[in-house]
Amino acid sequence: MPQPALSRTLMTGALRAAFDDDRDADTFALRLDRYGPELIASLQAVYGDQAEPLLAGLLEVMLHAYHTRPADLKRLDEARLLTPDWLQRPDTVGYVAYTDRFAGTLKGVQGHLPYLEELGVTYLHLMPLLKPRPGENDGGYAVQDYRAVRDDLGSMDDLSALAADLRSRGMSLVLDLVLNHVAQEHEWAQRARAGDPTYRAYFHIFPDRTEPDAYERTLPEVFPDFAPGNFTWDEAAQGWVWTTFNTYQWDLNWANPDVLREFVDIILHLANRGVEVFRLDAIAFLWKRLGTDCQNQPEVHHLTRALRACARIVAPAVAFKAEAIVAPADLIHYLGTGGHHGKVSDMAYHNSLMVQLWSSLASRDTRLFTQALAAFPPKPTNTTWGVYVRCHDDIGWAISDADTNAVGLSGHRHRHFLSDFYSGEYPGTFARGLVFQFNPQTGDRRISGTLASLAGLEAALETGHPQAVDHAVRRILLLHAVILAFGGVPLLYMGDELALLNDHAFADTPEHAADNRWVHRPRMDWARAQAAARDAGTPHGRVNAGLRHLIHARRALPHLHASIESRPLPSPDPCVLLLRRDHPQGTFLGVYNFSEHTIQFPAHVLRSVLGEHAVDHVAGSAFTFGAHPVILDPYRALWLTSVQEGARGL
Ligand code: GLC
Repeated sequence: MPQPALSRTLMTGALRAAFDDDRDADTFALRLDRYGPELIASLQAVYGDQAEPLLAGLLEVMLHAYHTRPADLKRLDEARLLTPDWLQRPDTVGYVAYTDRFAGTLKGVQGHLPYLEELGVTYLHLMPLLKPRPGENDGGYAVQDYRAVRDDLGSMDDLSALAADLRSRGMSLVLDLVLNHVAQEHEWAQRARAGDPTYRAYFHIFPDRTEPDAYERTLPEVFPDFAPGNFTWDEAAQGWVWTTFNTYQWDLNWANPDVLREFVDIILHLANRGVEVFRLDAIAFLWKRLGTDCQNQPEVHHLTRALRACARIVAPAVAFKAEAIVAPADLIHYLGTGGHHGKVSDMAYHNSLMVQLWSSLASRDTRLFTQALAAFPPKPTNTTWGVYVRCHDDIGWAISDADTNAVGLSGHRHRHFLSDFYSGEYPGTFARGLVFQFNPQTGDRRISGTLASLAGLEAALETGHPQAVDHAVRRILLLHAVILAFGGVPLLYMGDELALLNDHAFADTPEHAADNRWVHRPRMDWARAQAAARDAGTPHGRVNAGLRHLIHARRALPHLHASIESRPLPSPDPCVLLLRRDHPQGTFLGVYNFSEHTIQFPAHVLRSVLGEHAVDHVAGSAFTFGAHPVILDPYRALWLTSVQEGARGL
């Protein structure tokens, strides 16, 4: 016998009567029927017997949020249902900024929207701006109140106004959702400290070291330098509290169904304020299991699927981006494999791509890059990557030994080389970076530094050597050319469009002094932005003009839709990376010279992929592949598509 639709069993009598009109009730019922089964299956998988009362609680939360969702956001929901690929399109361009560093306040950001619009930005990720704990707060990742904005940045109403302004310009607001931990000053932690058993159960608090020691045996350390260990003794709570990150960031106990209900409420509350994409911060750490590294546990994916189902029922305009900086084989599950295919996050950071960009730039060798991408599992076609060159975090050398071995390198030695190179210790290096979190046990050294300083502009400007400056500019544009044509949402990190250098004064701010990631979180330089727009001859102006040009070229290339994979091709020259995209409208080939040498590249390799004639969409020039090699200038990027005989030209 067919099962009655979920909505008929769940939306009875009073519940249905609560809707103002039948159309609204039908919409909710249809979505409940569509996503309810996934929601229930995941709740049962994680919470067993507790799933049923939890579902009743979630339904209440969802109905309230649905009834209070503003009309213009409901209209956006309809629009998004008609364009489910909105995050995959080549005209999607992201920009990531700290509100205060970019423009002082949320109102200030509104004043600078024309700048972003002109740059081609359609997706604005404002770094953590919800009310953090006072003092040190891990760049805002220690949230005290999810329903208030940081005092000096503005109010919740300012946030809604900004979101509405963004929407009217075709841009989406992206916010962090910190769901692994809260600040120890958060109301839940305060109540737990005061001895309230309901709230103690929101956290992992142990009376003595027995369990913490047992977990520590297999747990890695995230901040070995300034926050060693994963547990912190709390006097008020009289217990060891699980604190994966800093001592003041208390990990939440997601095995408690109340925690899930709270977060559904928070997500929908913020979605109704106009947030369109949630960056699921540190999502890999949500579930703890003894004897493991407590990352990437299967429950994490059920929890994400449940959260997403709730968001889809109330606010289908909303998308999720997973911040899981984990190995490729683990990462792919965040975009959905097996029964979760396409049902968890819509987008995930492509950390490997970022790491390989820097690795090839240092070694002038793309063989490891090619190997790592070839071994990368394909993603579901309805998902997308967040592709980036730099972000607010450090760079950790997440390169697998399997990949280094496959190209005849030692993993340990290569990672050591990269840390030496980017910290400026390696003889002849162009980079200026800082070592972040040296781990004496593993020898790991992560790296801080802005894109421009790591790519050589800081050192080059100091020596004033024109060729060194020229090469640094080319490197910055090369890295952007790769991400812009990879397939995914390019996430431009504020200031990189102007090649801003390291901010060595970061240590003058006491709350930042111990965390050198602040060296690459500079303040926006508006004078430089104006100067760059006027004078494309300065290095900053060249980077700016070059980047704008690449963004413009990307928008016009349907081949770059993220439903298509970029696949590496073996390259006859180790300095040159080849990335192929087979789009129904034709083949695209990215050709990238990762060296300061002029390369004579065999034309037959390109001809075998593209045919005899091709166009490079970066320089706008036509190629005919004959007997002569193709000349690739230092750090040159080509975006080639084939041209059929008789249809030559752009
Ligand atoms: C994420 C953030 C990082 C932060 C950590 C803890 O990895 O990107 O900046 O320190 O989560 O919230």
